[in-house]
Amino acid sequence: MKVLLIVAAAAAAVFAALHADSQPPAEAAPAYANAAYAPPAGRRASVEEMTALGRTMFFDPSLSASGQQSCATCHSPDHAFGPPNDLSVQLGGKDMKTAGTRAVPSLRYAQNTPPFSEHFHDDDGDDSIDAGPTGGRTWDGRADSAHDQARIPLLSPHEMANADAAEVVAKLKRAPYAAQLRAAFGDTVFDNTDRAFQAALMALEVFQESPADFYPYTSKYDAYLRKQTQLNAQELRGLELFNDPGKGNCASCHISEILPNGAFPQFTDYGLIAVGVPRNKKIPANADPRYYDFGLCGPERNDFKDKPEYCGLFKTPTLRNIALRRSFFHNGVFHTLEEVMQFYVQRDTNPEKWYPRNRDGSIRKFDDLLPEHFSNVNMEPPFDRQPGDKPALDDAEIKDVIAFLKTLTDGYKP
Ligand code: HEC
Ligand code: HEC
Repeated sequence: MKVLLIVAAAAAAVFAALHADSQPPAEAAPAYANAAYAPPAGRRASVEEMTALGRTMFFDPSLSASGQQSCATCHSPDHAFGPPNDLSVQLGGKDMKTAGTRAVPSLRYAQNTPPFSEHFHDDDGDDSIDAGPTGGRTWDGRADSAHDQARIPLLSPHEMANADAAEVVAKLKRAPYAAQLRAAFGDTVFDNTDRAFQAALMALEVFQESPADFYPYTSKYDAYLRKQTQLNAQELRGLELFNDPGKGNCASCHISEILPNGAFPQFTDYGLIAVGVPRNKKIPANADPRYYDFGLCGPERNDFKDKPEYCGLFKTPTLRNIALRRSFFHNGVFHTLEEVMQFYVQRDTNPEKWYPRNRDGSIRKFDDLLPEHFSNVNMEPPFDRQPGDKPALDDAEIKDVIAFLKTLTDGYKP
């Protein structure tokens, strides 16, 4: 298990919170929270000002070329800032008819995502171990911070579709909150497009670090970790199966336990891993048989296009609030947790259920990868089986794991 200790500070605060009754455990405040952002030659905006502005922008559809789409259209606050529907990929663009190529991730519990690193070294006592590609924002880890990330949807032709930063800044200048932007960042903020754009991206980032919205730690499982509530028998069985290295083995990637420094688990180790999910025919880009989304080796990022050993690797997502989602994996190929669980335990025992057949009747396993990438695919439990073997979890055990996953939804009231 890759135990990440990227949260250096605040362990004491977490322990205090653990023993307090109502307070959610605080994690280390993101670095900038102590150093409020000022565009060069501008005013130093406070965290409160940036949070308020970021929130307003996040919900403002006038920042898109269509005038109809805000960040919240895809990242719905009622769905842990994930997609509000069961579409595999969302529509956007100038005409609101252009399909994306990837499922919308939840924006919750991303606050400790480390910047992307090709050779990640844990801080858990044995930092000689190279955990491999880890971290970064988006499914392929290509954005190093939430402000780098925000640039992508504002300018992507299949999302908010602005032609360039100047177009975004022109919209901000006309927005009802333009005066607030001047008050926060200085009267000259609009004099320079790059500075104004950067100020807006910083405000979006700071809003996305607001604990009450983005990392509240209010799930039943958090209450259980704080010893404020019990899990029922089925949830406990599910947790056990989730953790058991010979059964679900889920926690080897989706960390479930309190870290040695006291930080609550994020249900991801941020590692990039190939799981080999089936190709999703519902994604329009996949109509082209030559088009593949290989994640870490491209096409959305191009720094590793010459590294075939990175093809098929995608970032391990958090499983917090997973029960609020209706499309799963980077390509949104599955729509229920039951399907996801069946895939995990039957990918190798019953590949015919998940992959299409070749003309000669053989099964085209890992049909969203090329044969030279098959060796990249993870084969650890529950993926350590052959056709004919018993799946790692039976139907009753799958129900137990799902019951446990449902304890990860924020907003639990004892
Ligand atoms: C049309 C739908 C859509 C809109 C609108 C949209 N996003 Fe996203 N967002 C996505 C998709 C899809 C991804 C995954 C992209 C990828 O992996 O390449 C994503 C990824 C992200 C991530 C990375 C999450 C992570 O750590 O993995 C952040 C942060 C984010 N979006 C913030 C925003 C902000 C801020 C806005 C508004 C400025 C916004 N998004 C608008 C669809 C959307
Ligand atoms: C070897 C690491 C690893 C193990 C073990 C693992 N996962 Fe995952 N999980 C991933 C990665 C990587 C993805 C994203 C893969 C992709 O989209 O191509 C993922 C995606 C998911 C998703 C979809 C999340 C979303 O937002 O779309 C769910 C649900 C999930 N895993 C649950 C589980 C459960 C339950 C288990 C145990 C049975 C498990 N995982 C075991 C690495 C792992």
